[in-house]
Amino acid sequence: MKNGSLWLDTNGCHINAHAGSFLRHNGVWYWYGEHKIAGWEGRLAFVGVHVYSSADFLSWKDEGIALKVNDDPASPICRGCRIERPKVIYCASTGKFVMYFHSTDDKHTIAKCGVAVADSPLGPFEFLYAERPDKECWPLDVTDADKDEESIRRTIERNYIINREHEEAFTVNLLGRDFSGGQMSRDQTLFVDDDDKAYHIYASEQNSTLHISLLSEDYLYHSGIFNRAFHRRWMEAPVIFKRNGIYYLFMSGCTGWYPNAARGAWAENIMGPWHEFGNPCSGYCAENDSNAETTFNCQGACAVNIDGEIYIMLDRWNMENFIDSRYCLLKVKFMDNGCFELPWQESAFDI
Ligand code: GAL
Repeated sequence: MKNGSLWLDTNGCHINAHAGSFLRHNGVWYWYGEHKIAGWEGRLAFVGVHVYSSADFLSWKDEGIALKVNDDPASPICRGCRIERPKVIYCASTGKFVMYFHSTDDKHTIAKCGVAVADSPLGPFEFLYAERPDKECWPLDVTDADKDEESIRRTIERNYIINREHEEAFTVNLLGRDFSGGQMSRDQTLFVDDDDKAYHIYASEQNSTLHISLLSEDYLYHSGIFNRAFHRRWMEAPVIFKRNGIYYLFMSGCTGWYPNAARGAWAENIMGPWHEFGNPCSGYCAENDSNAETTFNCQGACAVNIDGEIYIMLDRWNMENFIDSRYCLLKVKFMDNGCFELPWQESAFDI
């Protein structure tokens, strides 16, 4: 598993599970991710969410497609849609495996959270729904300005996409605009805490602000209790992990498939306040001539705890041929000042 090289499954094929997540259940590892096809077309979902299994995290067996696209144009998981950043968690109280993903269209206008459920870690996952979460709920940190009806009305009237290039992106009331229809849910991840409470962490408000939302006890819905972090910091690809009671986030900036400098943050409470501390990456990847400024030409996918060490899995996107996108697995180094570093390594394991 040399970082950036082809990672072959037990059939000798490059593993096809991008922007994915890992789950360990009954001593077996599962790796879920976006199945990519060749070419630029590969940005869209033509197959579904792929799953692999492993006993040792090194050799991965292809277990097929855990969530399949369909051919119903009315379905959010119709072939040719986007199914991005699939994450799977196990709900101990129901015994079900729950998958959340970014459910959207080619132009990224839908911005919903898709949910699917299965009795087995290998699936098949049954698609339940795609929604904009936290409808008609205000976050814990809501202000009077967020509830101001005049600013909500004015923001709704602007019917063009607001992104960080627009000056007014910093003044419009995106939270209020989406109060009645539900908040945008874009790049996303899941986290199950030590007390079995599960959280959905999603880029919202046109990608400008991160939302951290408590899920229902069965993990299938949002509870309506949520908070915001990194207001107007335009961050994507959230990767979350916890160590010694502290929560950590590793995120990218907002430049689509193009790599940018990562950002790190920590918090004592998952709901915040979150403290951002800059780019945790360090070092130089000679084979790819890339450094921390571009996260080694990668973007974070998820974190995984292997034998007590935290690793971050990254995707090195290949926009010309998505099926050939590569993986990098880097070990997190925790610092005395409470922050963490992510140094470049040729290979995650010394074998
Ligand atoms: C990235 C995001 C990907 C995908 C891509 C498309 O920033 O993390 O999951 O959405 O943009 O533009």
